[in-house]
Amino acid sequence: MEFGSAHNFLEGKAILVIGATGFLAKLLVEKILRVQPNIKKLYLLLRAGNSEEATQRLHDEVLSKDLFKVLRGMWGAEFVSFISEKVLAVGGDVSVENLGIKDTKLREKLWEETDIIINSAATTKFYERLDVAMGINTMGALHVLNFAKNCSKLQMLLHVST
Ligand SMILES: NC(=O)c1ccc[n+]([C@@H]2O[C@H](COP(=O)([O-])OP(=O)(O)OC[C@H]3O[C@@H](n4cnc5c(N)ncnc54)[C@H](OP(=O)(O)O)[C@@H]3O)[C@@H](O)[C@H]2O)c1
Repeated sequence: MEFGSAHNFLEGKAILVIGATGFLAKLLVEKILRVQPNIKKLYLLLRAGNSEEATQRLHDEVLSKDLFKVLRGMWGAEFVSFISEKVLAVGGDVSVENLGIKDTKLREKLWEETDIIINSAATTKFYERLDVAMGINTMGALHVLNFAKNCSKLQMLLHVST
């Protein structure tokens, strides 16, 4: 896909990125916000028991990183309001059904709104216990697929994996 068309494709879209504290997903999140600020919403699923914990992780492990310096510079004093308007941290866990999103209203909102799902959640420890690795990398992929099937507007499901 040409850069121009990818950029245009993202405009006005509600995008769910799963595994947003990860190496690849952080780069993706920064790039989307930098090149296409006119997205509808960026939902970031982070491994957490609730949205407060997820929001804390979003600030501590994603937005506070040097990677976001350029974006902070671009928005200056409006960075915080830009982020609160466009980004929502969602607590969850891919290894359980419905991605571990306990808030039913939020789950239904995601099913209604999401245009694009990008799953980058995985255990990347090659010496991980087999049951744990199966739960995240295999069952996780299935849970993402089942979640995607409930998204009435979905245009793209991108699964990132080794
Ligand atoms: N990095 C590369 O160069 C590269 C190259 C090719 C392919 N890949 C593949 O791309 C994917 C992402 O790689 P990465 O390097 O970004 O990995 P990473 O830095 O280890 O990130 C993995 C992400 O998955 C999340 N996660 C793990 N278990 C989860 C769960 N149960 N529920 C929700 N989130 C969970 C982690 O969250 P926590 O912070 O909670 O652990 C983290 O945010 C992997 O499948 C990897 O094999 C990576």
